[in-house]
Parts: sequence; C-alpha cells; structure tokens
Amino acid sequence: MPALFQTLAVASLDELAAFARRLAPVLDAGDTVLFDGNLGAGKTTLIKDLCQALGCRDAVTSPTYTIAQLYHAPLGPILHLDAYRLNSSGELWDLGYDEEMETGLTLIEWGQKVADDFPDALRVELQIEGDTQRQLILSSESPQWHQRLQTLEAS
Ligand SMILES: Nc1ncnc2c1ncn2[C@@H]1O[C@H](COP(=O)(O)OP(=O)(O)O)[C@@H](O)[C@H]1O
Ligand SMILES: [Mg+2]
Repeated sequence: MPALFQTLAVASLDELAAFARRLAPVLDAGDTVLFDGNLGAGKTTLIKDLCQALGCRDAVTSPTYTIAQLYHAPLGPILHLDAYRLNSSGELWDLGYDEEMETGLTLIEWGQKVADDFPDALRVELQIEGDTQRQLILSSESPQWHQRLQTLEAS
C-alpha cells in the first residue's frame, strides 16, 4: 500500500487544468507518474493538461492502441504509456524506451499494472464523483514525494 499524501477535489475541467499547472513545476526529468482510475476518469485529460503546463506543444492523445507515445518538452522527452493491454511489465521494457525513461518524464495510464517496476513513482488516482467532479488521490511508496509535494500544498 503506497503512503497517502494528499487527496483533493476538482469540480471541473478548468480546476483539473489548474491542478496540472501546480503539479507541473514539481515534476522533473527522470520521474515517473502512474495514473489510475476507471475509463473516463480523466487520466488522458490530466496528462494532456500536464504536458501543456510543461510547455509541450505536441498533440497529446490516448496511447490506447499505440501503447507508447513520445512528446518533446523543455525538460526533455515525455513518454506517455498505456499499460492497459500489457500482460506483464516485461512487455513495457521490450518497447525499448529505457533511455527516454531515464532522461525524460514518464507518464503511465493504468499504472497499477506496472507499479511494481516503479517503486519511486508518484501515483495519481482519479475517482469519478460526478459529471465534472473528480477526486484526486496522490500517493507513493517513495517518501521523496512527500517533501516534493509540499510545495504543491503551499501554492
Ligand atoms: N474534472 C474532470 N477531470 C477529468 N475529466 C473530466 C472532468 N470533467 C469532465 N471530464 C471528461 O471526462 C472524460 C475523461 O476522459 P479521459 O481523460 O479520456 O479518461 P481516461 O483516460 O481516464 O479514460 C473526458 O471526456 C473529459 O472531458
Ligand atoms: Mg486514457
């Protein structure tokens, strides 16, 4: 069970984008963020908002079929993965993006499926509360995020 750091409620798409703008400065090259939540919870939408907040100008779309998409941002490459159709995390390594994972930011939808491979990851779970309301649950097994997210709390 990852340690719970924060839960926060967003009432709308605008509030989700505002959260992404606060989280973006906390993220760095080499980080991995795992996103979970039911279909339609907003994993892709939040990643889109994050990429935009990070100054990425590439079109961000769901990698449901491609499994992996690579974007470019000022901090380095952004690897956008969808683990839904992966049978094992070994398949993730077979994709051959080790270098991008090391030098860039890795954002993984359905992250639970590969969580064992990313003990240092920040985890973001989105729960549907209503048409446009979502509950965001931030957690990690790695205590480094506790401190890093404090700046988020203060902003
Ligand atoms: N507050 C919100 N946060 C995220 N998505 C929202 C919100 N309000 C409405 N939505 C809608 O919910 C859907 C989320 O879809 P998507 O991001 O593809 O989810 P997932 O990737 O988790 O399957 C989008 O159509 C989005 O516009
Ligand atoms: Mg998605």
